Amino acid sequence: MSLPLLTIVLAAGMGKRMRSARPKVLHEIAGRSMLGHVLARAQSLGEGRAAVVVGPQMGSVAEDAQQWRPDAEIFVQQAQQGTADAVLAAKPALEAHQGDVLVLYGDTPLITTKTLQDMRASLDDGARVVVLGFTPEDPTGYGRLLVDAKGNLSAIREHKDASDAERAVTLCNSGVMAFRIDDLAGALAKIDNNNQNSEYYLTDMVEHVVAAGGRVSVVVGSEDEVLGVNSRDQLAEAEAIWQRRRRTEVMQAGVTMIAPETVWFSHDTQFGQDVFIEPNVFFGPNVEIGDGVIIRANCHLTGASVGAGATIGPFARLRPGADLAQNVHVGNFVEIKNVQLGEGAKANHLSYLGDGKVGAGANIGAGTIFCNYDGFFKHQTEIGAGSFIGSNSALVAPVKIGDGAYVGSGSVITKNVSDNALALERSSQDERPGWAEKFRKLMADRKRRATKS
Ligand code: UD1
Ligand code: CA
Repeated sequence: MSLPLLTIVLAAGMGKRMRSARPKVLHEIAGRSMLGHVLARAQSLGEGRAAVVVGPQMGSVAEDAQQWRPDAEIFVQQAQQGTADAVLAAKPALEAHQGDVLVLYGDTPLITTKTLQDMRASLDDGARVVVLGFTPEDPTGYGRLLVDAKGNLSAIREHKDASDAERAVTLCNSGVMAFRIDDLAGALAKIDNNNQNSEYYLTDMVEHVVAAGGRVSVVVGSEDEVLGVNSRDQLAEAEAIWQRRRRTEVMQAGVTMIAPETVWFSHDTQFGQDVFIEPNVFFGPNVEIGDGVIIRANCHLTGASVGAGATIGPFARLRPGADLAQNVHVGNFVEIKNVQLGEGAKANHLSYLGDGKVGAGANIGAGTIFCNYDGFFKHQTEIGAGSFIGSNSALVAPVKIGDGAYVGSGSVITKNVSDNALALERSSQDERPGWAEKFRKLMADRKRRATKS
Protein backbone atom coordinates (compact mmCIF):
# COMPACT_ATOMS: atom_id res chain seq x y z
CA MET A 1 0.00 0.00 0.00
CA SER A 2 1.43 3.36 -0.96
CA LEU A 3 1.64 5.99 1.75
CA PRO A 4 0.55 9.64 1.36
CA LEU A 5 2.64 11.50 -1.19
CA LEU A 6 4.54 14.79 -1.09
CA THR A 7 5.95 15.88 -4.47
CA ILE A 8 8.74 18.45 -4.47
CA VAL A 9 9.40 20.13 -7.80
CA LEU A 10 12.77 21.85 -8.15
CA ALA A 11 12.44 24.96 -10.25
CA ALA A 12 14.91 27.48 -8.83
CA GLY A 13 17.15 27.58 -11.90
CA MET A 14 16.71 30.51 -14.31
CA GLY A 15 17.91 28.41 -17.26
CA LYS A 16 20.53 30.70 -18.83
CA ARG A 17 20.81 28.60 -21.95
CA MET A 18 17.21 29.40 -22.90
CA ARG A 19 18.35 33.01 -23.47
CA SER A 20 15.02 34.23 -22.21
CA ALA A 21 13.61 36.84 -19.86
CA ARG A 22 11.18 34.14 -18.69
CA PRO A 23 12.21 31.55 -16.12
CA LYS A 24 12.91 28.26 -17.90
CA VAL A 25 10.08 26.22 -16.38
CA LEU A 26 7.48 28.69 -17.72
CA HIS A 27 8.33 27.85 -21.32
CA GLU A 28 5.49 25.84 -22.78
CA ILE A 29 4.90 22.46 -24.32
CA ALA A 30 1.50 21.91 -25.93
CA GLY A 31 0.22 25.20 -24.52
CA ARG A 32 1.11 24.49 -20.90
CA SER A 33 4.23 25.43 -18.94
CA MET A 34 6.76 22.68 -18.32
CA LEU A 35 6.05 23.19 -14.63
CA GLY A 36 2.34 22.62 -15.33
CA HIS A 37 3.17 19.32 -17.02
CA VAL A 38 5.28 18.17 -14.08
CA LEU A 39 2.58 19.11 -11.56
CA ALA A 40 -0.06 17.31 -13.65
CA ARG A 41 2.08 14.16 -13.64
CA ALA A 42 2.36 14.30 -9.88
CA GLN A 43 -1.38 14.79 -9.62
CA SER A 44 -2.00 11.75 -11.82
CA LEU A 45 -0.67 9.61 -8.95
CA GLY A 46 -3.73 10.60 -6.90
CA GLU A 47 -4.24 12.77 -3.87
CA GLY A 48 -1.21 14.27 -2.21
CA ARG A 49 0.65 17.46 -1.51
CA ALA A 50 2.88 19.43 -3.85
CA ALA A 51 5.72 21.81 -3.04
CA VAL A 52 7.52 23.92 -5.62
CA VAL A 53 11.00 25.33 -4.94
CA VAL A 54 11.59 28.59 -6.82
CA GLY A 55 14.41 31.11 -6.95
CA PRO A 56 14.25 34.63 -5.54
CA GLN A 57 12.14 37.02 -7.65
CA MET A 58 10.23 34.19 -9.28
CA GLY A 59 6.70 35.28 -8.41
CA SER A 60 5.64 34.38 -11.94
CA VAL A 61 6.69 30.77 -11.37
CA ALA A 62 4.75 30.64 -8.10
CA GLU A 63 1.66 32.02 -9.86
CA ASP A 64 1.96 29.50 -12.66
CA ALA A 65 2.31 26.63 -10.18
CA GLN A 66 -0.83 27.73 -8.41
CA GLN A 67 -2.73 27.98 -11.68
CA TRP A 68 -2.20 24.27 -12.33
CA ARG A 69 -2.21 23.17 -8.74
CA PRO A 70 -3.97 25.66 -6.43
CA ASP A 71 -2.87 23.75 -3.34
CA ALA A 72 0.85 23.86 -4.25
CA GLU A 73 3.06 25.25 -1.48
CA ILE A 74 5.80 27.57 -2.72
CA PHE A 75 9.28 27.74 -1.17
CA VAL A 76 12.07 30.09 -2.12
CA GLN A 77 15.67 28.86 -2.31
CA GLN A 78 17.67 32.04 -1.76
CA ALA A 79 20.98 30.93 -3.31
CA GLN A 80 21.41 27.95 -5.59
CA GLN A 81 23.73 25.71 -3.64
CA GLY A 82 22.73 22.40 -5.15
CA THR A 83 19.83 19.99 -5.41
CA ALA A 84 19.99 18.83 -1.77
CA ASP A 85 19.88 22.45 -0.62
CA ALA A 86 16.91 23.01 -2.93
CA VAL A 87 14.98 20.11 -1.39
CA LEU A 88 15.83 21.47 2.07
CA ALA A 89 14.22 24.77 1.10
CA ALA A 90 10.94 22.85 1.39
CA LYS A 91 11.83 21.75 4.93
CA PRO A 92 8.51 22.88 6.50
CA ALA A 93 6.62 20.68 4.02
CA LEU A 94 8.98 17.75 4.67
CA GLU A 95 8.58 18.06 8.42
CA ALA A 96 4.81 18.22 8.19
CA HIS A 97 4.71 15.09 6.04
CA GLN A 98 4.79 11.40 6.75
CA GLY A 99 4.96 9.02 3.83
CA ASP A 100 6.51 9.02 0.36
CA VAL A 101 8.48 11.95 -1.03
CA LEU A 102 9.01 12.36 -4.76
CA VAL A 103 11.52 14.85 -6.17
CA LEU A 104 10.93 16.00 -9.75
CA TYR A 105 12.72 18.64 -11.82
CA GLY A 106 10.64 21.44 -13.31
CA ASP A 107 12.54 21.19 -16.58
CA THR A 108 11.87 17.47 -17.09
CA PRO A 109 8.26 17.49 -18.27
CA LEU A 110 7.82 14.20 -20.12
CA ILE A 111 7.97 11.72 -17.28
CA THR A 112 5.15 9.15 -17.42
CA THR A 113 2.68 8.19 -14.72
CA LYS A 114 3.60 4.50 -15.18
CA THR A 115 7.27 5.15 -14.32
CA LEU A 116 6.35 7.15 -11.22
CA GLN A 117 4.01 4.35 -10.13
CA ASP A 118 6.85 1.81 -10.60
CA MET A 119 9.05 3.96 -8.36
CA ARG A 120 6.44 4.06 -5.62
CA ALA A 121 5.93 0.31 -5.91
CA SER A 122 9.64 -0.09 -5.22
CA LEU A 123 9.24 1.97 -2.02
CA ASP A 124 6.38 -0.34 -1.09
CA ASP A 125 8.81 -3.26 -1.58
CA GLY A 126 11.10 -1.84 1.09
CA ALA A 127 13.55 0.42 -0.74
CA ARG A 128 14.36 3.56 1.27
CA VAL A 129 15.32 5.49 -1.86
CA VAL A 130 14.41 4.85 -5.50
CA VAL A 131 16.29 6.52 -8.34
CA LEU A 132 15.03 6.78 -11.90
CA GLY A 133 17.87 5.71 -14.20
CA PHE A 134 18.19 5.69 -17.95
CA THR A 135 20.79 4.78 -20.56
CA PRO A 136 21.41 7.83 -22.75
CA GLU A 137 23.09 7.60 -26.13
CA ASP A 138 25.76 9.94 -24.75
CA PRO A 139 26.22 9.79 -20.96
CA THR A 140 28.61 12.78 -20.78
CA GLY A 141 27.59 15.19 -18.04
CA TYR A 142 25.15 12.92 -16.24
CA GLY A 143 25.58 11.40 -12.79
CA ARG A 144 26.48 7.67 -13.09
CA LEU A 145 24.53 5.02 -11.19
CA LEU A 146 26.95 2.64 -9.46
CA VAL A 147 25.11 -0.63 -8.91
CA ASP A 148 26.17 -3.64 -6.77
CA ALA A 149 25.95 -7.35 -7.66
CA LYS A 150 22.33 -7.55 -6.44
CA GLY A 151 21.24 -4.71 -8.69
CA ASN A 152 20.92 -2.26 -5.80
CA LEU A 153 22.44 1.18 -6.00
CA SER A 154 25.56 1.88 -3.96
CA ALA A 155 26.28 5.46 -5.06
CA ILE A 156 25.66 8.16 -7.66
CA ARG A 157 28.79 9.82 -8.96
CA GLU A 158 28.51 13.15 -10.75
CA HIS A 159 30.38 13.19 -14.06
CA LYS A 160 32.84 15.81 -12.85
CA ASP A 161 33.70 13.76 -9.77
CA ALA A 162 33.84 10.35 -11.47
CA SER A 163 36.94 8.20 -12.15
CA ASP A 164 37.55 6.83 -15.65
CA ALA A 165 36.12 3.45 -14.59
CA GLU A 166 33.01 5.14 -13.21
CA ARG A 167 32.60 7.22 -16.37
CA ALA A 168 32.49 3.97 -18.37
CA VAL A 169 29.17 3.18 -16.67
CA THR A 170 26.30 3.87 -19.06
CA LEU A 171 23.38 3.77 -16.60
CA CYS A 172 22.76 7.40 -15.62
CA ASN A 173 20.78 9.43 -13.14
CA SER A 174 17.68 11.15 -14.51
CA GLY A 175 17.41 13.27 -11.36
CA VAL A 176 14.01 11.89 -10.37
CA MET A 177 14.10 10.34 -6.91
CA ALA A 178 11.63 8.94 -4.41
CA PHE A 179 12.22 8.48 -0.68
CA ARG A 180 10.63 6.86 2.29
CA ILE A 181 12.84 8.08 5.09
CA ASP A 182 11.43 9.00 8.47
CA ASP A 183 13.63 12.03 9.00
CA LEU A 184 14.41 13.21 5.48
CA ALA A 185 15.23 16.77 6.52
CA GLY A 186 17.72 15.36 9.07
CA ALA A 187 19.28 13.08 6.48
CA LEU A 188 19.60 15.93 3.94
CA ALA A 189 21.32 18.12 6.49
CA LYS A 190 24.16 15.54 6.68
CA ILE A 191 25.09 16.09 3.03
CA ASP A 192 28.27 18.14 2.50
CA ASN A 193 29.61 20.08 -0.46
CA ASN A 194 33.01 18.41 -0.85
CA ASN A 195 32.90 18.04 -4.62
CA GLN A 196 34.07 19.75 -7.80
CA ASN A 197 31.10 22.14 -7.83
CA SER A 198 31.06 22.85 -4.08
CA GLU A 199 27.33 22.10 -4.18
CA TYR A 200 25.12 20.10 -1.88
CA TYR A 201 24.18 17.12 -4.06
CA LEU A 202 20.90 15.37 -3.46
CA THR A 203 22.51 12.34 -5.08
CA ASP A 204 24.87 11.97 -2.09
CA MET A 205 21.86 10.78 -0.14
CA VAL A 206 22.33 7.38 -1.74
CA GLU A 207 25.71 6.70 -0.11
CA HIS A 208 24.47 7.84 3.30
CA VAL A 209 21.41 5.60 3.15
CA VAL A 210 23.44 2.59 2.00
CA ALA A 211 25.99 3.19 4.79
CA ALA A 212 23.14 3.15 7.31
CA GLY A 213 22.00 -0.25 5.97
CA GLY A 214 19.13 0.98 3.78
CA ARG A 215 18.40 -0.39 0.33
CA VAL A 216 18.39 1.93 -2.71
CA SER A 217 16.77 0.65 -5.89
CA VAL A 218 16.81 1.77 -9.52
CA VAL A 219 13.86 1.98 -11.89
CA VAL A 220 14.90 2.34 -15.52
CA GLY A 221 12.98 4.70 -17.80
CA SER A 222 13.34 5.68 -21.46
CA GLU A 223 15.60 8.50 -22.62
CA ASP A 224 12.50 10.26 -24.03
CA GLU A 225 10.75 10.60 -20.72
CA VAL A 226 13.70 12.00 -18.80
CA LEU A 227 14.66 14.55 -21.44
CA GLY A 228 15.75 17.68 -19.57
CA VAL A 229 15.11 20.96 -21.35
CA ASN A 230 18.03 23.39 -21.17
CA SER A 231 17.74 25.18 -24.52
CA ARG A 232 15.14 26.10 -27.13
CA ASP A 233 16.12 23.22 -29.38
CA GLN A 234 15.56 20.78 -26.53
CA LEU A 235 12.21 22.50 -25.91
CA ALA A 236 11.23 21.76 -29.51
CA GLU A 237 12.46 18.18 -29.09
CA ALA A 238 10.31 17.76 -25.98
CA GLU A 239 7.33 19.23 -27.85
CA ALA A 240 7.85 16.72 -30.67
CA ILE A 241 7.97 13.78 -28.26
CA TRP A 242 4.86 15.03 -26.45
CA GLN A 243 2.96 15.46 -29.73
CA ARG A 244 3.93 11.96 -30.96
CA ARG A 245 2.63 10.43 -27.77
CA ARG A 246 -0.62 12.38 -27.84
CA ARG A 247 -1.32 11.54 -31.50
CA THR A 248 -1.12 7.86 -30.64
CA GLU A 249 -3.47 8.31 -27.67
CA VAL A 250 -5.93 10.33 -29.73
CA MET A 251 -6.04 7.69 -32.49
CA GLN A 252 -6.47 4.96 -29.90
CA ALA A 253 -9.46 6.90 -28.55
CA GLY A 254 -11.19 6.83 -31.93
CA VAL A 255 -9.98 9.79 -34.01
CA THR A 256 -8.84 9.30 -37.62
CA MET A 257 -5.99 11.42 -38.99
CA ILE A 258 -4.70 11.12 -42.54
CA ALA A 259 -1.32 12.59 -41.62
CA PRO A 260 -1.04 12.55 -37.81
CA GLU A 261 2.48 13.99 -37.91
CA THR A 262 0.99 17.27 -39.21
CA VAL A 263 -1.67 17.69 -36.51
CA TRP A 264 -0.73 19.59 -33.31
CA PHE A 265 -2.62 19.27 -30.05
CA SER A 266 -2.78 21.21 -26.82
CA HIS A 267 -2.47 19.57 -23.44
CA ASP A 268 -6.24 19.82 -22.97
CA THR A 269 -7.71 19.17 -26.46
CA GLN A 270 -10.79 16.95 -26.12
CA PHE A 271 -12.38 14.72 -28.74
CA GLY A 272 -15.55 12.72 -29.17
CA GLN A 273 -15.63 9.54 -31.22
CA ASP A 274 -15.17 9.18 -34.96
CA VAL A 275 -13.67 12.60 -35.48
CA PHE A 276 -11.91 12.87 -38.83
CA ILE A 277 -8.98 15.26 -39.24
CA GLU A 278 -7.28 16.11 -42.52
CA PRO A 279 -3.62 17.27 -42.65
CA ASN A 280 -2.15 20.46 -41.11
CA VAL A 281 -4.47 21.29 -38.27
CA PHE A 282 -3.41 23.18 -35.11
CA PHE A 283 -5.29 23.00 -31.81
CA GLY A 284 -4.50 25.76 -29.32
CA PRO A 285 -5.65 25.47 -25.70
CA ASN A 286 -9.21 24.84 -24.59
CA VAL A 287 -10.77 23.16 -27.62
CA GLU A 288 -13.52 20.58 -27.45
CA ILE A 289 -14.61 18.58 -30.51
CA GLY A 290 -17.83 16.54 -30.58
CA ASP A 291 -18.60 13.13 -32.11
CA GLY A 292 -18.33 12.72 -35.85
CA VAL A 293 -16.86 16.17 -36.54
CA ILE A 294 -14.90 16.57 -39.78
CA ILE A 295 -12.00 19.01 -39.71
CA ARG A 296 -10.65 19.62 -43.19
CA ALA A 297 -7.07 20.60 -43.97
CA ASN A 298 -5.31 23.73 -42.63
CA CYS A 299 -7.56 24.80 -39.76
CA HIS A 300 -6.50 26.72 -36.63
CA LEU A 301 -8.64 26.32 -33.49
CA THR A 302 -8.23 27.92 -30.06
CA GLY A 303 -10.76 28.14 -27.24
CA ALA A 304 -13.52 26.71 -29.43
CA SER A 305 -16.27 24.18 -28.89
CA VAL A 306 -17.52 22.23 -31.92
CA GLY A 307 -20.77 20.26 -31.71
CA ALA A 308 -21.35 16.75 -33.02
CA GLY A 309 -21.58 16.30 -36.77
CA ALA A 310 -20.15 19.71 -37.63
CA THR A 311 -17.79 20.28 -40.57
CA ILE A 312 -14.94 22.78 -40.30
CA GLY A 313 -12.64 24.08 -43.02
CA PRO A 314 -10.57 23.73 -45.07
CA PHE A 315 -8.74 26.89 -43.93
CA ALA A 316 -11.09 27.87 -41.10
CA ARG A 317 -10.06 29.79 -37.99
CA LEU A 318 -11.99 29.32 -34.75
CA ARG A 319 -10.92 31.70 -31.99
CA PRO A 320 -11.85 31.82 -28.30
CA GLY A 321 -15.59 31.78 -27.72
CA ALA A 322 -16.46 30.16 -31.05
CA ASP A 323 -19.26 27.90 -29.88
CA LEU A 324 -20.71 25.73 -32.63
CA ALA A 325 -23.82 23.60 -32.06
CA GLN A 326 -24.47 20.29 -33.83
CA ASN A 327 -24.16 20.03 -37.60
CA VAL A 328 -22.84 23.55 -38.12
CA HIS A 329 -20.84 24.09 -41.31
CA VAL A 330 -17.93 26.50 -41.34
CA GLY A 331 -16.09 26.68 -44.64
CA ASN A 332 -12.92 28.14 -46.09
CA PHE A 333 -11.48 31.46 -44.95
CA VAL A 334 -14.07 31.96 -42.23
CA GLU A 335 -12.92 33.44 -38.92
CA ILE A 336 -15.17 33.13 -35.87
CA LYS A 337 -14.57 34.75 -32.47
CA ASN A 338 -16.93 34.84 -29.51
CA VAL A 339 -20.00 33.82 -31.49
CA GLN A 340 -22.51 31.05 -30.82
CA LEU A 341 -23.82 29.30 -33.92
CA GLY A 342 -27.10 27.40 -33.52
CA GLU A 343 -27.74 23.92 -34.81
CA GLY A 344 -27.23 23.50 -38.55
CA ALA A 345 -26.16 27.12 -39.14
CA LYS A 346 -23.83 27.64 -42.11
CA ALA A 347 -21.05 30.11 -42.86
CA ASN A 348 -19.28 28.52 -45.75
CA HIS A 349 -17.06 31.14 -47.37
CA LEU A 350 -14.84 34.15 -46.62
CA SER A 351 -16.44 35.71 -43.53
CA TYR A 352 -15.62 37.34 -40.22
CA LEU A 353 -18.10 36.62 -37.42
CA GLY A 354 -17.07 38.33 -34.19
CA ASP A 355 -19.11 38.91 -31.00
CA GLY A 356 -22.66 37.70 -31.40
CA LYS A 357 -25.15 34.90 -31.99
CA VAL A 358 -26.37 33.10 -35.06
CA GLY A 359 -29.69 31.25 -34.80
CA ALA A 360 -30.26 27.62 -35.80
CA GLY A 361 -30.35 26.94 -39.53
CA ALA A 362 -29.30 30.47 -40.52
CA ASN A 363 -27.25 30.84 -43.70
CA ILE A 364 -24.44 33.37 -43.72
CA GLY A 365 -23.49 34.24 -47.30
CA ALA A 366 -19.99 34.54 -48.70
CA GLY A 367 -18.10 37.61 -47.56
CA THR A 368 -20.40 38.56 -44.67
CA ILE A 369 -18.67 40.68 -42.07
CA PHE A 370 -19.76 41.41 -38.51
CA CYS A 371 -18.48 44.98 -38.02
CA ASN A 372 -18.07 44.47 -34.27
CA TYR A 373 -15.53 47.15 -33.36
CA ASP A 374 -15.81 50.93 -33.51
CA GLY A 375 -12.23 51.53 -32.52
CA PHE A 376 -13.15 51.75 -28.82
CA PHE A 377 -15.81 49.16 -27.96
CA LYS A 378 -16.94 45.76 -29.22
CA HIS A 379 -20.65 45.32 -30.05
CA GLN A 380 -22.97 42.35 -30.59
CA THR A 381 -24.57 41.10 -33.79
CA GLU A 382 -27.59 38.82 -33.38
CA ILE A 383 -28.96 36.83 -36.27
CA GLY A 384 -32.30 35.03 -35.93
CA ALA A 385 -33.02 31.37 -36.62
CA GLY A 386 -33.57 30.44 -40.26
CA SER A 387 -32.49 33.84 -41.57
CA PHE A 388 -30.52 34.36 -44.76
CA ILE A 389 -27.69 36.88 -45.00
CA GLY A 390 -26.87 37.68 -48.61
CA SER A 391 -23.28 37.66 -49.81
CA ASN A 392 -21.00 40.59 -49.14
CA SER A 393 -23.14 42.10 -46.40
CA ALA A 394 -21.69 44.22 -43.63
CA LEU A 395 -23.65 44.02 -40.37
CA VAL A 396 -22.71 47.06 -38.29
CA ALA A 397 -23.04 46.15 -34.60
CA PRO A 398 -24.92 46.52 -32.39
CA VAL A 399 -27.59 45.11 -34.67
CA LYS A 400 -30.26 42.39 -34.69
CA ILE A 401 -31.63 40.46 -37.64
CA GLY A 402 -34.98 38.79 -36.89
CA ASP A 403 -35.92 35.12 -37.32
CA GLY A 404 -36.49 34.11 -40.91
CA ALA A 405 -35.39 37.51 -42.26
CA TYR A 406 -33.50 38.13 -45.50
CA VAL A 407 -30.66 40.57 -45.99
CA GLY A 408 -30.02 41.43 -49.62
CA SER A 409 -26.52 40.90 -50.96
CA GLY A 410 -24.13 43.78 -50.61
CA SER A 411 -26.11 45.55 -47.89
CA VAL A 412 -24.58 47.60 -45.12
CA ILE A 413 -27.05 46.95 -42.29
CA THR A 414 -27.04 49.54 -39.49
CA LYS A 415 -30.62 49.15 -38.17
CA ASN A 416 -32.42 46.14 -36.69
CA VAL A 417 -34.40 43.97 -39.13
CA SER A 418 -37.71 42.47 -38.00
CA ASP A 419 -38.70 38.80 -38.27
CA ASN A 420 -39.39 37.57 -41.81
CA ALA A 421 -38.61 40.99 -43.40
CA LEU A 422 -36.30 41.70 -46.33
CA ALA A 423 -33.70 44.38 -45.69
CA LEU A 424 -31.96 45.86 -48.70
CA GLU A 425 -29.44 48.63 -48.49
CA ARG A 426 -28.15 49.55 -51.95
CA SER A 427 -29.27 51.80 -54.79
CA SER A 428 -31.87 50.29 -57.10
CA GLN A 429 -30.70 48.96 -60.42
CA ASP A 430 -31.08 51.13 -63.53
CA GLU A 431 -31.24 49.43 -66.98
CA ARG A 432 -30.78 51.11 -70.42
CA PRO A 433 -31.89 48.73 -73.23
CA GLY A 434 -29.52 48.50 -76.20
CA TRP A 435 -26.96 50.86 -74.64
CA ALA A 436 -24.00 48.49 -74.91
CA GLU A 437 -24.54 47.79 -78.59
CA LYS A 438 -24.72 51.53 -79.42
CA PHE A 439 -21.66 52.27 -77.29
CA ARG A 440 -19.54 49.62 -79.02
CA LYS A 441 -20.52 50.95 -82.47
CA LEU A 442 -19.75 54.55 -81.50
CA MET A 443 -16.33 53.70 -80.10
CA ALA A 444 -15.37 51.45 -83.03
CA ASP A 445 -16.17 54.32 -85.49
CA ARG A 446 -14.14 56.77 -83.45
CA LYS A 447 -11.14 54.45 -83.46
CA ARG A 448 -11.34 53.85 -87.23
CA ARG A 449 -11.32 57.65 -87.89
CA ALA A 450 -8.39 58.20 -85.58
CA THR A 451 -6.17 55.56 -87.26
CA LYS A 452 -6.98 56.87 -90.83
CA SER A 453 -5.77 60.43 -90.23
C1 UD1 B 1 21.48 16.57 -12.00
C2 UD1 B 1 21.95 15.38 -11.17
C3 UD1 B 1 22.66 14.37 -12.10
C4 UD1 B 1 21.72 13.99 -13.21
C5 UD1 B 1 21.20 15.20 -13.96
C6 UD1 B 1 20.11 14.79 -14.92
C7 UD1 B 1 22.48 16.19 -8.94
C8 UD1 B 1 23.57 16.57 -8.00
N1 UD1 B 1 22.87 15.83 -10.14
O1 UD1 B 1 22.64 17.24 -12.49
O2 UD1 B 1 23.07 13.22 -11.36
O3 UD1 B 1 22.38 13.08 -14.11
O4 UD1 B 1 20.61 16.15 -13.06
O5 UD1 B 1 19.70 15.87 -15.73
O6 UD1 B 1 21.31 16.20 -8.56
N2 UD1 B 1 18.10 23.20 -8.80
C9 UD1 B 1 17.59 24.02 -7.85
N3 UD1 B 1 18.42 24.58 -6.94
C10 UD1 B 1 19.76 24.31 -6.92
C11 UD1 B 1 20.29 23.45 -7.91
C12 UD1 B 1 19.43 22.92 -8.85
O7 UD1 B 1 16.38 24.28 -7.83
O8 UD1 B 1 20.45 24.83 -6.04
C13 UD1 B 1 17.19 22.63 -9.81
C14 UD1 B 1 17.49 23.15 -11.20
O9 UD1 B 1 16.70 24.28 -11.50
C15 UD1 B 1 17.12 21.95 -12.06
C16 UD1 B 1 17.40 20.74 -11.18
O10 UD1 B 1 17.41 21.23 -9.85
O11 UD1 B 1 15.71 21.94 -12.37
C17 UD1 B 1 18.70 20.03 -11.51
O12 UD1 B 1 19.81 20.88 -11.30
P1 UD1 B 1 21.04 20.94 -12.29
O13 UD1 B 1 22.00 21.94 -11.78
O14 UD1 B 1 20.55 21.12 -13.69
O15 UD1 B 1 21.68 19.48 -12.10
P2 UD1 B 1 22.63 18.74 -13.10
O16 UD1 B 1 24.01 19.22 -12.98
O17 UD1 B 1 22.01 18.70 -14.44
CA1 CA C 1 20.35 19.82 -15.66
